[in-house]
Amino acid sequence: MREAVAAHQLRHYGLELDPDREVQVTFGATEGLAAALLALVGAGDEVLVLDPAYDSYTPIVELAGGRVQPIALEPPDWRFAPVEPGPAARVLLLNSPHNPTGRVLDEGELESLARLCVEHDLIALTDEVYEHLVYDGRHVPLATLPGMWERTLTVSSIAKTHSVTGWKIGWVTGPAALVERVRGVKQFLSFAGGTPLQHAAAVGLAIDPAPLAAALRAKRDRLADGLRAVGFDVLPTAGTYFLNATLGDRDAAELCQRLPHEAGVAAIPLSAFSARDGALRSIVRFAFCKREEVLDQAIVRLRTWKGG
Ligand SMILES: Cc1ncc(COP(=O)(O)O)c(C=O)c1O
Repeated sequence: MREAVAAHQLRHYGLELDPDREVQVTFGATEGLAAALLALVGAGDEVLVLDPAYDSYTPIVELAGGRVQPIALEPPDWRFAPVEPGPAARVLLLNSPHNPTGRVLDEGELESLARLCVEHDLIALTDEVYEHLVYDGRHVPLATLPGMWERTLTVSSIAKTHSVTGWKIGWVTGPAALVERVRGVKQFLSFAGGTPLQHAAAVGLAIDPAPLAAALRAKRDRLADGLRAVGFDVLPTAGTYFLNATLGDRDAAELCQRLPHEAGVAAIPLSAFSARDGALRSIVRFAFCKREEVLDQAIVRLRTWKGG
């Protein structure tokens, strides 16, 4: 598995890794992120995190005794203002392609974040689980930017690339000194695990991810067109499994509580991924990693609901 991860990083990004010292296999990306944050963050330390964010980040930062300093992504194009880290900032936790917005950061943004890490001596921890699910633009790992390899831990997993989200086989890569620190925590979280699935994941890592991405791009477009026909305004999404939309200025949390009962469709309000008050109030996240007939049925149900 470690050799397969090293071969994957070389093939896709030109990064040459020592499979023994620069790769740690984990129980999904989630354990990799937890082990890394517990290793890197101490009491009172600050971690810069895009907001909204995948929901495991803040609890783990706080479990480690740290605090999140949010970097607000602003709809509809999900860009962020220049970042000013405080004196307690230690880590930049970056997720691109980004859940829940579907944003893929561009090279200018990555360069600005790399400069920030170097200037403020931050360790970068990147969550790249959607690395192969990019429909517009291109994914560039932060670790490949000048000056970043030695200060970056890159986390990914087999979950999204091959639609096996229950498998929980992930990995952390980076310079040996940082990976060693992750391993020191991982040892007492789970020690090892999922070995039979690691054999399968190693095979999966060698498979070309492009056909799955092409199929998901078509599903993104299918759901977006359907939602527009129902009357939703759809926000742009360049990657991931997710599409965000608004229905006038309807409150998204209220809408998402009603939709399963009234329409038989489930979605998540973006406010569930954010510490900000109000800013994302009307935005609903839909998932398009579904069979086409499920997406079509959802649109039929939403149209009937809306008509009713
Ligand atoms: C941004 C992000 N990171 C990590 C994960 C989980 O990855 P894994 O199943 O490998 O723990 C998810 C799943 O929703 C995610 O959206």
